[in-house]
Amino acid sequence: MKILVLNGSPKKDKSDTMHMTRAFVDGMNSACENEVTVIDVIDRHIEFCTGCFQCKHNGGVCILDDDMTAIIDRFVTSDVVIFNFLLYAYGMPAPLKNLVDRLMPLSSWKMSRDEDGRYGHSTYRDLSALRYVMICGCGYPNAKHNFEGAVKQFLLKFPVNSTVITVPESPMFNIPQAANFVQPRLKALKEAGDEYADSFTIDEALYQEICSPMIPEEIYAAFANGERE
Ligand SMILES: Cc1cc2nc3c(=O)[nH]c(=O)nc-3n(C[C@H](O)[C@H](O)[C@H](O)COP(=O)(O)O)c2cc1C
Repeated sequence: MKILVLNGSPKKDKSDTMHMTRAFVDGMNSACENEVTVIDVIDRHIEFCTGCFQCKHNGGVCILDDDMTAIIDRFVTSDVVIFNFLLYAYGMPAPLKNLVDRLMPLSSWKMSRDEDGRYGHSTYRDLSALRYVMICGCGYPNAKHNFEGAVKQFLLKFPVNSTVITVPESPMFNIPQAANFVQPRLKALKEAGDEYADSFTIDEALYQEICSPMIPEEIYAAFANGERE
């Protein structure tokens, strides 16, 4: 399969959350042979969408000449696109959100309503086989009142073929002393990647384990506040 990883962390390969995505992709690679491309979004020249809508009338050509042309080419020819990001103000970091905005040329002006009453623009290309994975971390100790906005936005933008993985306490992935708690989580993510590559699903118990805090939230908060050695 062709896998495109869009790394939304400005910390690039030093990112806390990329530890999770690397484990998931390792798992996918153990299930089958893949061609993996990782794009550190912060390094790419991506202008802001000007909202001119010309792309919606001209067959999907953006007026801006920057790295988005190549990124869209890679996006539409992928089998799986993995969005790796951390919460910034309860949503995607701005550079990644900007990239998502610039996917505008994929769809035409024409809009239609589905059985659920939801409107959407029709796409210029058949993207029905494309699969989307969101792997998201955050600095707070739990998921409640934290990931909801980002998850909702992702699922509204990519409503079909989407899988969402959220893991709290993600700065732990970059703390060597936390290895005893982090390694089992990375192992679980690898297992999930293996299953996903096989069936595009993840076993529910494994999924719940992955999305839970790695250590009790009170202990994490106490460490973060410097109250424990
Ligand atoms: C500008 C900014 C905004 C953040 N907003 C949130 C937030 O809304 N919720 C949260 O739990 N963590 C938040 N964090 C913490 C990061 O999500 C956390 O440090 C994450 O592990 C960093 O991941 P990375 O190393 O992959 O970039 C924020 C961090 C920054 C720098």
